[in-house]
Amino acid sequence: MKEVVEELEEKRKAATLGGGQERIDAQHNRGKLTARERLEILLDKDSFEEWDAFVEHRCTDFDMQDNKIPGDGVVGGYGTINGRMVFVFAQDFTVFGGSLAEAHAVKICKLMNQAMKVGAPIIGLADSGGARIQEGVVSLGGYADVFQLNALASGVVPQISVIMGPCAGGAVYSPAMTDFIFMVKDTSYMFVTGPDVVKTVTHEVVTAEELGGAVTHSTKSGVCDCAYENDVETLLMVRRFVNYLPSNNREKPPYRPTPDKSDRMEMSLDTLIPDNPNKPYDIKEVVYKIADDNEFWEIQPDHAKNIVIGFARMDGHPVGIVANQPMVQAGCLDIKSSIKAGRFVRFCDAFNIPIVTFVDVPGFMPGSAQEYGGIIKHGAKLLFAYAEATVPKITIITRKAYGGAYDVMASKHLRGDVNLAWPSAEIAVMGPKGAVEIIFRNDIGDEEKIAQRTEEYRQKFANPFIAASRGFIDDIIAPHATRKRICRSLAMLRNKKLENPWRKHDNIPL
Ligand code: HXC
Repeated sequence: MKEVVEELEEKRKAATLGGGQERIDAQHNRGKLTARERLEILLDKDSFEEWDAFVEHRCTDFDMQDNKIPGDGVVGGYGTINGRMVFVFAQDFTVFGGSLAEAHAVKICKLMNQAMKVGAPIIGLADSGGARIQEGVVSLGGYADVFQLNALASGVVPQISVIMGPCAGGAVYSPAMTDFIFMVKDTSYMFVTGPDVVKTVTHEVVTAEELGGAVTHSTKSGVCDCAYENDVETLLMVRRFVNYLPSNNREKPPYRPTPDKSDRMEMSLDTLIPDNPNKPYDIKEVVYKIADDNEFWEIQPDHAKNIVIGFARMDGHPVGIVANQPMVQAGCLDIKSSIKAGRFVRFCDAFNIPIVTFVDVPGFMPGSAQEYGGIIKHGAKLLFAYAEATVPKITIITRKAYGGAYDVMASKHLRGDVNLAWPSAEIAVMGPKGAVEIIFRNDIGDEEKIAQRTEEYRQKFANPFIAASRGFIDDIIAPHATRKRICRSLAMLRNKKLENPWRKHDNIPL
């Protein structure tokens, strides 16, 4: 017995040391923490229960039988974040470069299956050289096993990927199938093919950072949802982020009591909208001012900035916020913003998070670039996402709600539960000038006549009254009462039940 205990201690020590002190030092010198150090920050103190620390690979090629490290390059198990259960795995770059092989993949799959059984989120910390070259196709099979479970877990438990080192080749597709991707600036990157292959195939010279660093993916591609300066900051932010999410698709999102009164008035909102309808204002000001404790967790803040998405709490309950941003491209919907918001709406709907939508949208972005890029299909993603969503949907039109974009942005017609408008709302087929130039085309050139027609149109349509008279909006509210009205609406909707017709699954325009 004593010998077994001693052997156990030896093995545990070996597992804890991963690839050895030299490689740990190298990891630190790159500004990165080790897998275990990362889990210590991510999880509540002393909550981590490790699984499969003694798992080893069974590869015998390239003398690998003499090169076994307990744990096989991934540290996994379960623990808590602020008292709530999560499953975690952290790839250990000090062991075979964190590369994924058969045993490594089996460990991850075991955790994912268990997370689904008990209904807890799964958080993966990626830091890996990809498929373990020595194991060849067996590694590819391991990846596919993980991909399969990513698909099965989607919409069942929240899946979060944190990219904390290399993540290249097909390996990127596991994070891509999860709900949110966090990245660490300067030390992480994601790409399907690295700079060398890019150079060979396209003769383009590009660095790993330019091709797939955190800045690239949080600004240009939108692959990354949130990027932070270093490992510690990123992990602490993930801890906070999880507080907005339910543990699974059968739960409501976690309630957090707040001293912020639900009927708090915000008088400054009454003067936020400029007199000139073409002048921008910052929609985020509205979001921050109406949210509990003025807190808003913005997702993809630097990508497709013409739409703002993220989480807030209203009267203690998490909500998803979607808001057109008049500060950027006048808040027009385009390909990127439709994809960004569409995916977010679907996440909220899958996980019982009510959606609060702020509308100030002059329409879809015109132009050949958008048409050639498929704005028809991509714009339809957001429309489809809103139309199929059965969670409580509250919509506030602050100013423009023009054309098809009016319909798309959680309108009454898409089963919006509570649709409110500020007095400044303009709900019409298009803006006054554009409308007049079409229906009074013959008057173009006669500036006085056009001005008079435009004013007539503005008087008639550029207001919320016609939509209100039809019941397309439920009430016209004072901006200062927005928080109160949203909180009351959410309380009314707390037991909302709505189901879509049975089907195998829908066919969203991908
Ligand atoms: C086995 C690997 C490995 C891998 C790295 N290592 N990647 N071992 N399989 N895929 C090992 C190295 O041999 C080294 O071992 C240690 O990890 C650290 O690697 P370094 O190269 O010293 O580190 P660094 O200079 O930081 O470079 C990191 C790297 C580079 C950029 C990730 O290692 C690299 O390019 N690796 C190969 C990446 C790759 O081509 N992977 C396959 C992609 S295809 P020692 O013992 O010296 O410490 C793929 C397909 C997935 O992943 C398909 C899914 C469908």
